Amino acid sequence: MTTAFERTPPGMRLLRSVYDCAIIGFPRILDDRGNLTFIEQLRHIPFRIARAYWIYDVPGGESRGGHAYRELEECVVALSGSFDVFLDDGTAQKVVHLNRAYNGLYIPKMIWRHMRHFSTNAVALVLASLPYSEADYIRDYQDFKKRNGQ
Ligand code: TYD
Repeated sequence: MTTAFERTPPGMRLLRSVYDCAIIGFPRILDDRGNLTFIEQLRHIPFRIARAYWIYDVPGGESRGGHAYRELEECVVALSGSFDVFLDDGTAQKVVHLNRAYNGLYIPKMIWRHMRHFSTNAVALVLASLPYSEADYIRDYQDFKKRNGQ
């Protein structure tokens, strides 16, 4: 699937905004025996899933993230418990509270993010569009602002 971003004309510099981050409501099969949710790549999330990882056993008061990705797109799901995702595009900021296993937060590339306020037993599932690569990380906020500053 080609996204609007990928159709950007060559040479045009497109800046990502926190307003491009969006909650995706996944299908829910409600059942008295317990509910079920599923995801198919390119159908329920706008990229091919190359990797999944999850964050768990987060001690009280700890924070994860604190970086942006040059190319990676992600979808974050609170499979259990809750936490806040702090989003920053270099100009605008937004905080999204995740606490439902049937919602995913889509985050395009070039968005600075932190995850904070993890509840006890919170599990954050992250579906990612690329394999792990440290070279894709921007870990310096000033460097990020320079690249995505508006
Ligand atoms: P990092 O992405 O910095 O964690 P977070 O953003 O959640 O705070 O990753 C922490 C460490 O784990 C780092 O040394 C890289 C390693 N790592 C992998 O080896 N593979 C992966 O898929 C991920 C996400 C991290």
